[in-house]
Amino acid sequence: MTSNLIIEIKDLSKEYIYKKSNLLIFKNINLNIDERDIISIMGPSGCGKSTFLNIIGMLDSDYNGKYLFDNQEVNLLNNDKKNILRNTSIGFVHQFFYLIPELTVLENVAIPKMILTNNKKKSFDSAKYLIEKFGLIERINFKPQYLSGGEQQRVAIARALINNPKLIIADEMTGNLDEETSDNIFNFFLKEIKSNKQSLIFVTHNEKYAKKANKQFKILKKQIIKI
Ligand SMILES: Nc1ncnc2c1ncn2[C@@H]1O[C@H](COP(=O)(O)OP(=O)(O)O)[C@@H](O)[C@H]1O
Ligand SMILES: [Mg+2]
Repeated sequence: MTSNLIIEIKDLSKEYIYKKSNLLIFKNINLNIDERDIISIMGPSGCGKSTFLNIIGMLDSDYNGKYLFDNQEVNLLNNDKKNILRNTSIGFVHQFFYLIPELTVLENVAIPKMILTNNKKKSFDSAKYLIEKFGLIERINFKPQYLSGGEQQRVAIARALINNPKLIIADEMTGNLDEETSDNIFNFFLKEIKSNKQSLIFVTHNEKYAKKANKQFKILKKQIIKI
């Protein structure tokens, strides 16, 4: 069986320039990711994990080398095309949830689909379906500040999944939750991604979670190394 590549990274280097000095983060990285891969990335604080996820997530285009998503070289797309590709193909989950405080659970989850379809009814229907599935129906009209950390993260996951993206990116998604909540959220999240046949790239400091990936990587000496 041939597997389909979703991501190809060729000779990717990244440096930040800060106060006139250069900080090299990655040097000539090469990496392929297949559809339905579950990838974990570990590494000490400051090694470049979030930098890598931001590049993969098309939020940072300031690098050398090639990054192809679904056979398209991302940096050759104009901004409109890149934004559409990101919004339809990639869902992001962060450590600090980043929900919009003024909006309800329903509105927070619906937003990416509203942007994509401009269809409020469709977007709210899909959001309701996910909110119910994620056990949050009683919180549907709550604003984020009235939710627990675990509930907020479920909302953020639902939002990341609403457009049914091919790839989910998660940056220390359980880093801010107690262990029991964290285990519940992580296991639920992984099951959901596998049943949707999506790909996942996640950063974690927890070896227990990293081991659940089908490919484990760590960032070391400006390289991404398979372990
Ligand atoms: N915009 C930026 N400008 C300059 N340096 C940055 C910037 N963003 C991150 N860095 C630096 O790059 C390194 C990697 O950061 P990051 O990717 O956030 O690491 P990690 O997520 O592994 O903790 C750190 O040393 C950080 O200080
Ligand atoms: Mg980080």
